[in-house]
Amino acid sequence: MVESVEEHYGSEGIVERIVQALSDAGFDTNNLDADVLAGADEFHIGGREGTLHVASAVDVGPGKQLLDVGCGIGGAARFLARSTGASVTGVDLTPEFVEAAIELTDLVGMSGLVDFKVGSATDLPFLDDTFDAVTMLHVGMNIEDKNQMMHELTRVCRPQGTVVVYDVTIAKAGDLPYPMPWSSTPQFSFPEPVAKYEEAAASAGLQHLSSSDHYDLALKFFNEPPASPPPVSLGHLMGPRMLEMRDNAGEAVNQGLISPVLMTFQVP
Ligand SMILES: C[S@@+](CC[C@H](N)C(=O)[O-])C[C@H]1O[C@@H](n2cnc3c(N)ncnc32)[C@H](O)[C@@H]1O
Repeated sequence: MVESVEEHYGSEGIVERIVQALSDAGFDTNNLDADVLAGADEFHIGGREGTLHVASAVDVGPGKQLLDVGCGIGGAARFLARSTGASVTGVDLTPEFVEAAIELTDLVGMSGLVDFKVGSATDLPFLDDTFDAVTMLHVGMNIEDKNQMMHELTRVCRPQGTVVVYDVTIAKAGDLPYPMPWSSTPQFSFPEPVAKYEEAAASAGLQHLSSSDHYDLALKFFNEPPASPPPVSLGHLMGPRMLEMRDNAGEAVNQGLISPVLMTFQVP
């Protein structure tokens, strides 16, 4: 019985499982490129393609500071640091994910560019106006209070900064099958239609720039697996239960119940 969000996600031995799989696949694990982790460390619909959409929406560059909220084991944070040149901080509720994020970042030689901290999206451990931009990928489905979540993303972002949210949203009413990748049961699952996010953002004072639905990417992600699978996968992150969670998410996408949406906002 899973008692919390952290318990759903966390497990011992994440880095060991990933490193072992890479070693078995013939990689020199003392000399790894960050990209090789992409199958396991980008835990959102579309994987790298989803991260690229976020990277093109976020407006930062060298000398700027970006916060990735609900960073998981840090895949998007590392990619955003490499692709934008900004310094990136990741924050996540699950201690085992934060530990793995720190170890993997060290393993790929990026510790000077990206750092990580345990913390909650609804009570971020940062002062007001700390970051030039804030991203959040596939986290809001675990958070009931969208107003508080948006308020916190806004609070830590400087004036004129961008807030980019890429989340699984409800596209059509209907019962979702569980376990889902973000929750084993409905108890910790709060996906909402995109309008709910936009309302919460407005109540936090954010200016809405755009929302784009990436349903086609979701259909491709679940129905057209790559011809050659990557050396590591979300199974190494979440264990064997990932198969059922992925099948359920794919079924919900195919039924048109859920869809990933990229929302971009600006702090006035
Ligand atoms: C589906 S994973 C996505 C991870 C990462 N953003 C990515 O795209 O690879 C959801 C993440 O949200 C984190 N999370 C859930 N609720 C949270 C909260 N209230 N505050 C911070 N992190 C949270 C989980 O621990 C998990 O790492």
